[in-house]
Amino acid sequence: MKIGILGFGSMGKTHAYCIKNLPFFFGSSFDVQVLGVCTRNLANAENAAKAYDLGFYTDNEDDIIYNSEIDAVDICTPNIYHYETAKKAILAGKHVYCEKPLAVNYAQARELSDLARERGVKCQMVFNNRFMSPIMRAKEIINEGKVGRVLSFSVKYLHSSALDTEKKAGWKQDKDICGGGVLFDLGSHAVDLIYHLCGELESVIGKSQIAYPLRTGVGGQPWETNADEAFYMIATLKGGGVGTFEISKITTGANDDLVLEIHGDKGSIKFDLMDPNFLYFYDASAQGGNLGGYCGYTKIECVNRYPAPGGIFPGIKAPIGWLRGHLGSYYSFVDSVENNKKPMPDFESGAYVQLILERAYESARLGKELKV
Ligand SMILES: NC(=O)c1ccc[n+]([C@@H]2O[C@H](COP(=O)([O-])OP(=O)(O)OC[C@H]3O[C@@H](n4cnc5c(N)ncnc54)[C@H](O)[C@@H]3O)[C@@H](O)[C@H]2O)c1
Repeated sequence: MKIGILGFGSMGKTHAYCIKNLPFFFGSSFDVQVLGVCTRNLANAENAAKAYDLGFYTDNEDDIIYNSEIDAVDICTPNIYHYETAKKAILAGKHVYCEKPLAVNYAQARELSDLARERGVKCQMVFNNRFMSPIMRAKEIINEGKVGRVLSFSVKYLHSSALDTEKKAGWKQDKDICGGGVLFDLGSHAVDLIYHLCGELESVIGKSQIAYPLRTGVGGQPWETNADEAFYMIATLKGGGVGTFEISKITTGANDDLVLEIHGDKGSIKFDLMDPNFLYFYDASAQGGNLGGYCGYTKIECVNRYPAPGGIFPGIKAPIGWLRGHLGSYYSFVDSVENNKKPMPDFESGAYVQLILERAYESARLGKELKV
């Protein structure tokens, strides 16, 4: 399968990393390759293609979309471009992998979905949170009927990135390019998770907030934003349950704080993206007792557990993020060689650890406490 990537900002790079690393995580039964990359700025495309071995580079998306060797188009551009690009790609017979939100209005999204079905090409959204193992486990538990009828839910998706008004505004704060503010950006993930886990919505009541209308424009000049910085919503599920969404980029102290709770008449689940190794499940049928019995949330260890063939690497004991530690370690080594720095941790640290190990064995053998 040959893929062309359109847009190479944070998500283009993320997708390229995923494509390149698929064999490590899923085995080598697929042969997937990036054949070309396109960005608005040709020099950026060239840099990306050369740095990450992404084949040819261009600043014209048609070079990707109409390339007969390319099977699939991966759309990582700002939201307003998704519709035109996806439409062209589908009509050209390409499969499409598209970042969220699919488009900037329902009519466009509906048209793309219908077109994909008519043309028989595979078109997938990037709602990546569905693939966090606790969310996959939550879906299983819900499907088993262990949560029962959903009575209420709450989702918070909180960032702090829009608190700094000195920071130059990006396209995500310009409605002409993003099409919608934080509700599009973070809210699309939150809405998708509730749809995925609880089904369709019956009604919504929303309220948007712009707390800092005056910001710093791209050129450093004062600039007024027109895209919501926070959005609040009460929603009713088709099944009758009622829940709340709090979506914000003006939350002091937040990182990537996606916190989800679903409460049913038989059980509840809780998930926190910043605590991604675990799903919390409350089974209302568990026996209580004077001292609590067996009631209470169970912390389910979803730690890197994925269905085959996805669970082979890095293994079910390695916490989510373990690989990042290895990447950081390797970078440190390469940096020490390339830039003549002291390696960290160096062999001196290794030797010290060795000393302690040896003393520990010695202490065990002698059955007494030893000084180091
Ligand atoms: N699924 C996720 O976790 C996730 C996270 C962040 C962003 N996204 C989505 O991915 C898409 C891309 O977001 P990103 O954060 O990678 O953006 P980015 O600003 O980092 O990169 C955008 C890319 O598109 C190109 N581009 C084309 N026209 C542009 C224009 N007019 N203005 C700015 N850039 C333009 C740029 O050259 C750049 O290569 C968006 O739809 C966004 O909603 C998804």
